[in-house]
Order: sequence, then structure tokens, then C-alpha cells
Amino acid sequence: MCGIVGYIGNNDSKEILLKGLERLEYRGYDSAGIAVLNEDGVHVFKEKGRIAALREIVDKDVEGHVGIGHTRWATHGVPNRVNAHPHRSASGRLTLVHNGVIENYEQLKQEYLQGYSFTSETDTEVIVQLIEKFVQDGMLVEEAFRTTLKALKGSYALALLDNENEDVILVAKNKSPLLVGLSEGCNVVASDAMAMLQVTDQFLELMDEEYVVVTKEEAVIKNLDGIVVERKPFTAQIDASDIEKGTYAHYMLKEIDEQPFVIRRIVQEYENADGQIKLDDSIRQAMLDTDRIYIIACGTSYNAGLVGKQFLEKLANIPVEVHIASEFVYNMPLLSQKPLFLFISQSGETADSRAVLVAVKKLGHRALTLTNVPGSTLSREANYTLPLYAGPEIAVASTKAYTAQIAVLAILAVDTARAKGIALDFDPIHELSIVANAIEALCDNKEEMEKIADEYLSHRNAFFIGRGIDFYVCLEGALKLKEISYIQAEGFAGGELKHGTIALIETDTPVFALATQEAVNLNIRGNVKEVVARGANACIISMKGLEQDGDRFVIPAVHELLTPIVSVIPFQLIAYYAALHRGCDVDKPRNLAKSVTVE
Ligand code: AGP
Ligand code: GLU
Repeated sequence: MCGIVGYIGNNDSKEILLKGLERLEYRGYDSAGIAVLNEDGVHVFKEKGRIAALREIVDKDVEGHVGIGHTRWATHGVPNRVNAHPHRSASGRLTLVHNGVIENYEQLKQEYLQGYSFTSETDTEVIVQLIEKFVQDGMLVEEAFRTTLKALKGSYALALLDNENEDVILVAKNKSPLLVGLSEGCNVVASDAMAMLQVTDQFLELMDEEYVVVTKEEAVIKNLDGIVVERKPFTAQIDASDIEKGTYAHYMLKEIDEQPFVIRRIVQEYENADGQIKLDDSIRQAMLDTDRIYIIACGTSYNAGLVGKQFLEKLANIPVEVHIASEFVYNMPLLSQKPLFLFISQSGETADSRAVLVAVKKLGHRALTLTNVPGSTLSREANYTLPLYAGPEIAVASTKAYTAQIAVLAILAVDTARAKGIALDFDPIHELSIVANAIEALCDNKEEMEKIADEYLSHRNAFFIGRGIDFYVCLEGALKLKEISYIQAEGFAGGELKHGTIALIETDTPVFALATQEAVNLNIRGNVKEVVARGANACIISMKGLEQDGDRFVIPAVHELLTPIVSVIPFQLIAYYAALHRGCDVDKPRNLAKSVTVE
């Protein structure tokens, strides 16, 4: 959600800022703005809606070699031009952009800013007014900035311009993501590396409660006591071509099609020369030492975690609990003696998940993160990390990261089983290659998925029912459909419907049923009969070998444990076409953000 960019160097900053914001659009936002500083002072342009609307109002004649930009995902104050960032101090000297939530902004107003007038409803404006108050009390801007940071409670990524100093951007970070990019003759600021890849691939990671004095020559990191912190830059492992849509109408369709290559990349990265699994010994040992794994995640990653539990329990014989991050942190269960926390997060920046990581680390427990963004907060702050190798996932609706998470979880489970001496007749490296081919076959049959979307999804609601591992995929299918087409959808355990929810089944209510598990194949078909008897329009998607007359679609056969990676593909495509035919913004659905960096 939301994003920040900044530029200080020898060129005009406007286009660099606007292009950087466009690269951050996938994170979700409701308004945007930039501020450009030159000898005439700061020029602020901000607008509700898309970057395209912002471009319309930017004065092309205004040039400035230093500037900041922002995409907002409103937390305090409705999305409108007044609440859009950047925000200015009362005198107009200071200009600020902010990602995050200041929890004590009201107290700060009471304590320091009595009598001040505010133009917006945001918590952000309190920050810039407070910095100026400290300047007016006699502090230099950097000291006022630092003093303000110490007073803030909550999450922030900040960038500040000072009308009276064109040579510096002050930036700061706590819980919200922010990087500083280093280049010849200029330096940049970005919420993630993708935003400024057109300038550099060398970035400085910022830790919580650090700030940076950025000039065009250097970037000096300091802690809140003003002590300089030395840190080497890392090279962003992102290929610029990965973040272009190419010939695709939407990132989501591109990313669905990329899944066979992602699975093959995972096989390549996790297999060593002799065909064995390649995994860091410290991770292997952590998996052997634990007596219970706690999987912590949100949304699609949570749905992948439910599948991961099956692998870890059935293959590696380790008890597993799967928890929604936002629940766990405030309602922690009784923990086992030797817990290991496994965080699953595409972005590695989800605030709900990160809050759990902070809490369990305080208790002295160890954590492993599966993420698609190495160098992300959850990756950096865990003891261990396993990359997903899915490449940048731009569409808000997660697809290739979900299947990558399941593939890596399968590899992790088998590696642990082997380390425990458990004999398995399941080789994930071989089976995943079959899975990649199966996905490819499904991606070559999009027309059928489009037909199914049109046949079944003309209603306001839909149900996805399955049993066992199919139930978990149905949760994901329902999430995909509702988050991009806005059709009210529910994933449901097939056997549970009759305990109440079946009351919602009416004539033509769409019910998608998954049948890929032999042990419950007849059971789920019985559940289909129950809903059809009440008028439902049932769409059975079965796996080759289990199919029966009347099934609407049959997916290629793969190892029973890995069916989720394949059975989810029809649901991804059906959701895509349902959203497309309903005129929804497929890649940037309303109200949503790609990375939810607020709790
Ligand atoms: C999935 O399509 C959604 N975009 C959302 O549920 C997402 O999975 C969730 O916010 C978790 O994000 P993460 O994997 O980056 O932590
Ligand atoms: N809390 C700030 C606001 O509501 C920033 C939100 C964001 O992260 O974009 O404007």
C-alpha cells in the first residue's frame, strides 16, 4: 500500500518522481502528489485518484533538482486533494510525505501544537508542523527532525524538504518500508527498489528508527541519537523487464502465465548438482530442533500456509498450527516448548505479520520467512529466510507467489523428512516438474476458463466447496474472485455446508466444487448433489483419473499432495475473466493494496 519516492541530483526531478510513483502503483493507493524544490521554493502538485490525474496538473515549466513524491492509502482523512501528500508546515518552509500511521498524533497536537491550525485531517500534518515548531524553538532542521522522530509512536517512512536548503532530503523509517538508492551524481529514495530501478540498482537498507541525510553526493545513515551508522549498499535482484507488462493487458494474466517458469526456477534453485535438495544447514537444523511449527500469514499467504501444514505434518511428521497474523499477535495460544515460527509473505512487508515476528523474537523464539522479496523487513528480521524466486508480483491479487509458496513448502517438508530419516515415495523435484507442465496446459486453455466465468458468474455471490486440501484451495479461489470481481464469494468445507450455510443456496447459485482427492471424491460429489437439489448451478472441477460424467472441467493428474498448485489455476483464471467482464480494475482492485504495511 502507498509509496514514497525522492530524487536529489543534477537533473530535473519531476519525471523521475512521476515514473517512480507509477512503478509503485501496484501497491494500491487513492491519491498522489509530488513536491519539487528550486530557487523559487517548493512547488506542490497533488490530486485524488491515479497518477495520470496528477500528471495532468503538474506544471511542466517548473524544474527542480530535488523532489519527493507520494502515493497515499488513506488511514486518517478521506481520500481527497487536501488530505493527499505532500503536506506543508504552517510557514510553508517544510514539506513532508509519509507512509504509515502515527498512533499518538492527537497527543502530540495536545502537547505541542495547541493553537495551530491544520489544513488536513491527516496524522501526517502533525509531523511536519511539529518539526517546524522545534525549528521555531531554535533547533536546526536536522535536530528538529530527529527530535520529532523520537516523539512519534507508530509506523512511518518519511521524506522531508526544507525550502531553505536545496541540497538535502531528510528521510526516516520505522516499520514502514523505505530504501535509499545510490548513483553517480544523484541519490534517490523509494519504498521499494522497483520504483527507482531506472536510476540505480544499488540500495541502502534502512532499519527501524534510523534517519538519513541524503545529498546528491552521499547518504549518511544515523540513529535517533544522531550517531552515524555505516552500512554497505545491496544490489537489487530485479530485472527491469520483469516489471513491465509486455504484451499482456494485465499484470495478473502475465503472472498467471509465468507460474510454470516460476516452478521450474524453484526446482532449479533448490536442487543441487546430484539432484538432492539444496537447503541451508541452519534451516534444516531449526526444522529438526522444533517440536511444533507455527505458520503465520495473511490472505493468500495464509491459504498457502494451510496447504503447507499438510506437507509438514504428513511428510515430516511435525505438528503445525496455521494462524492469521492479525489474530495471533493479540491472542497468542499456549506455545510448545521448542516452537519455530514460519512466516509466509510475498511482500515481506505485511505489518500484521511483522508485528508477530517482533513479538515472538522478544520471547526468544526463532523464525523462518518464506518471501518473494529478499531484503524485505520480514526476511531481514527473521533468523532464516527462503526465497520464492517468483519474480516481482505486481498485480494486487497474488497468483504466482501462492503457487511458489506451496512449492517451496513442499521442498522444505521433504528436506526435513529426509533429514529425520523418514522414507518417502515422494520426490518434489520430480513431481514439481510434472506440475509445471500441468500448469502450462491449463494456461493454454484460457478460453474454457473464460466460458466458465461467463456461464456461472452472473450472480452477486458464489461458493467454492472442497474437502481436505481442496478446501484450502477453495478458500484461495473465493479470495481471488471476491478481491478482483467484487462478487461475494465463500470457500467452504464441503461437508460443513449442511450445518447452516446451505440455507443460502438458491436457484442458480454458482457453486464450484473441487474433486482432486481420491479419499473424499465421492463425499464431495455427495455435497454437490445436496446443493444441486436446492437449485445450485454446480461446476465440478476434477482431476484426471477421478473425473465423472458431468464434470465441467478436468485438470491434468499430478501427485495428490501437489494438486493445489494446479487446481488453483482454473480459479485464478475464472476470477480474472469475471473481473474483466465486469469492468473491474483487475490489477488494482478497489480498497486493496499489494503490500498492507499498516496493522
Ligand atoms: C492476495 O491476493 C491479497 N493480495 C492479500 O490477501 C495478500 O495475500 C495478503 O495481504 C498477504 O500479503 P503478503 O503475502 O505480502 O504478506
Ligand atoms: N496516515 C497517513 C494518511 O492517512 C499516511 C497513509 C499512507 O501510508 O499512505 O495520510
